[in-house]
Parts: sequence; C-alpha cells; structure tokens
Amino acid sequence: MMRIDPEPLLTAEQIAARVRELAADIRRDLAGTRPLVLGVLKGAAFFTADLARALDMDAEVNFIRARSYAGTASTGKAAVSETEDLCLRGRTVLLVEDIVDTGTTLSALRAWLSAAEAETVRVCTLLDKPFRRTTPVTLDYAGFLVENHFVVGYGLDYEEQFRTLPALHVLKWPEEASGRPSVGG
Ligand code: PRP
Repeated sequence: MMRIDPEPLLTAEQIAARVRELAADIRRDLAGTRPLVLGVLKGAAFFTADLARALDMDAEVNFIRARSYAGTASTGKAAVSETEDLCLRGRTVLLVEDIVDTGTTLSALRAWLSAAEAETVRVCTLLDKPFRRTTPVTLDYAGFLVENHFVVGYGLDYEEQFRTLPALHVLKWPEEASGRPSVGG
C-alpha cells in the first residue's frame, strides 16, 4: 500500500486561487472566441471542470483520452482516442492537462489536434515538470512548477489510487526509508 505525505504540497485553496488566475489570463487571451475546452482524461477531469467554470465565458467542454503510463514508468508512447466524434476543424481549442512530464502525451495530442485541423490550440496544464522533459513541448499556461516528486490528488493518481483527494500530495515510496532515491512520474 502506497502512502502520501499528509502535508499537502499544494492545498485546495492554493489550487483554487491559481485556477482563478489562469482563467483570467485565458479569458483575456481568448476573448471574442467560443473555445472548446478539451480535457485530457482521466487526470485533468477535475482541473478541467474547475477551470471551465472559472473561465466565465461562452465555451464548450469535451474530453479526450490519452494514456502513456503503466505504473510510474513512462512507456514513451501515448495513444489518443475520442470519447465521441469531435469536429475540431476551424475551432479554438483549449487543451487542458493535469501534468506535463516527459512531454510524450502532449506531443501526441498536439499532432492529433493538428491532424484534426483545429485552427488555434492553446495548452493549459496545472502542473509542469520541466526537469523530466524528453520531448520538447510548448505550454501556453502552467499553474505550478513541480520538482522531481510523484504527485497525487486533485485528479492525479498512482495506479488509480488518490485521485479524489482535494489537495496535491507527494507520494511516499516504501523504499525511501532505505535511502532509495525517489523517481519521477
Ligand atoms: C498523465 C497526465 C498526462 C501524462 C503526462 O496521464 O494526465 O496526460 O500522464 O505525462 P508525459 O508528459 O510523460 O506524457 P496518465 O497517462 O497517467 O493517465 P490518467 O490521466 O488517466 O491517469
């Protein structure tokens, strides 16, 4: 059974305040458009719901699925799939991620959005782990920089555990007691 640091890395209040700031920036930048807020399941579902409400503008919401992980090790591949038929041609899309880590998933998503002929794509991630990047990607909005911790809560999971925690916490590895360095994810 994995454990978490009970002291949040980011509290629900800190997250909510940052969501309001991001929403204000996005509302200003996308004024005059009717964006499609496109959340990436499953991790970003919670952030997408909060961000879309904070945007306070005429927008659509939808979700796509992208998977790149087995446990904590990136497979180096990401598969993108729609939850329903989406017509993105000519649309302004705000892609919403919970975390950008190696960049593999976002790179695949950008290629997919480009193939779908979205006119404008803006990317908003709650968490950015730039030190882990293996594929360079461009972010338009990033909530918080994260060091090389494995974080869970507010939508982020470890093997489907901890997703529903309201705050973000650092996962504690059982091996840490024996001095094993923590790995990212
Ligand atoms: C997480 C996250 C991103 C991706 C980032 O999803 O939501 O989509 O990993 O990692 P990368 O930058 O190394 O590609 P995950 O595959 O864990 O699926 P989930 O959201 O359903 O838990």
